[in-house]
Amino acid sequence: MKRNRNNNKTLIIMRTLLASVAICLCMQLHAQNIIVLHPSDATDTINKNIYGHFAEHLGRCIYGGFYVGDNNKKIPNKDGIRLDVVEALRKLRIPVLRWPGGCFADTYHWKDGVGPKNERPSMLNVWWGNVKEDNSFGTNEFLNMCEMLGAEPYLSGNVGSGSPQELSDWVKYTTHPAGSSPMPDLRAKYGRPNPWHVKYWGLGNEAWGCGGNMTAEHYADVYRQYATFMSNGGDIFRIASGASDDDYHWTEVLMQQLPPNMFNALGLHHYSVIDWNKKSSSTDFSESEYFTTMQKALFMEELITKHSAIMDKYDPKKTKALVVDEWGGWYDVVEGTNGAFLFQQNTMRDAMIAGSTLNIFNNHCDRVKMANLAQCINVLQAVILTDEEKMVLTPTYHVMEMYNVHQNALMIPTTLVTNSYQIGDDKLNALSASASKDKDGVVHISITNIDAHNAEPVTIYLNGLPAKTVTGRVLKSEKLQDHNTFDDPNKVVPQAFTGATLNGDNISLTAPPFSVIVLEIK
Ligand code: AHR
Repeated sequence: MKRNRNNNKTLIIMRTLLASVAICLCMQLHAQNIIVLHPSDATDTINKNIYGHFAEHLGRCIYGGFYVGDNNKKIPNKDGIRLDVVEALRKLRIPVLRWPGGCFADTYHWKDGVGPKNERPSMLNVWWGNVKEDNSFGTNEFLNMCEMLGAEPYLSGNVGSGSPQELSDWVKYTTHPAGSSPMPDLRAKYGRPNPWHVKYWGLGNEAWGCGGNMTAEHYADVYRQYATFMSNGGDIFRIASGASDDDYHWTEVLMQQLPPNMFNALGLHHYSVIDWNKKSSSTDFSESEYFTTMQKALFMEELITKHSAIMDKYDPKKTKALVVDEWGGWYDVVEGTNGAFLFQQNTMRDAMIAGSTLNIFNNHCDRVKMANLAQCINVLQAVILTDEEKMVLTPTYHVMEMYNVHQNALMIPTTLVTNSYQIGDDKLNALSASASKDKDGVVHISITNIDAHNAEPVTIYLNGLPAKTVTGRVLKSEKLQDHNTFDDPNKVVPQAFTGATLNGDNISLTAPPFSVIVLEIK
């Protein structure tokens, strides 16, 4: 059976390749790109948590971004949480939110952030500008906000400078029933008798760096100690601090040394940064800087493939997840803003990073079960920017919103034959794509064309999928540097895409330069 299917697949690919060559020869056009869907090979679901976000006590992500103070009369809020932000994130269907860091997490002592606000101690946020952290936004505020957002919380525990007792107490404070021990009683005293549901727990952040500068071997031991004392009485999902980029040794050691019953996932962090010592402006960048950023972004494919291959050796049934709990573009801060606040603008370049990366995650959904874009508001590749009462949605927001049709849908494997986007001798795949079928049988195909100049002709072979109509949306703009501002918030917004034609078993379209398209096939 399997063999036949593979033979069929080869035949289809050969047929489509021949067709594309023929089309090129006849029409002297830019070569046809081919996407072949394999609906009969669809077995894996795209976990909605791949569309997750990250919120750190960094710059204006929490303070000014999510939270504006309980007594703020200028900005509409509920218990200090901005209502415009809640509305925008609910539209995005944000599934999970990681908090409170990042590097901040391993300096954070959660007990400082509960109880009456006027009794909460202040601290210096040593990682992010030494600014005063008054702890007015703490555990109750975050977990209540997640309920408002309809998002699952992912709490990142302090392993670097905390203790097993402190983390164990946090689990009890948030998830154990009132009356069962002193921590849930404290929660009840602070106004929340019923526990929240907190499934996702990180044990430290970047343990190889700001989380304690540990070796993988040392962290594995520390992890085991902390994990032993964590139980939420049910579905706890423990995420070990994972590798930085291509540190495959880290993944190998953790897979070898963490007892399978003590962890559910390994993290992975990868930022699309040109050079840590020489980044680029977030808006005023050259095509060559764009190209290099995309090289770094597309490296995610290799990273996931190689980290997954290591995990496969120890966990061939894929019971452990890879959680890419920090990803996104990282540039110079906007001129005139605090260098430690990591505030950057968000252009069509970011839309290209988002579209390509989400395609990679979708296609690897057998192993990647969660990802958290860094960061949600006002920091790095944000989906929302705010300035006092003003708020604007970024191109990345729109890509996340267009792609959210893939959340919890059945991933349809694809074969892609794509032209290159080339500068000099350097080449990148111009296109990336992913496809899925939702619970109502509706098929969505997302396509990102990163080529800065060429519109790309595409033929999509549906391979037996029934199709009566095709509609779509596209995100495109005139310049790669285009972005939304408070004065011009709708410069980059999705538009209807009417250029897809259904011809029996295939769809043809032309993807504009640097564009993201999501098709809906019924
Ligand atoms: O997202 C900003 C920082 O990048 C995080 O705090 C840290 O985990 C990473 O190095």
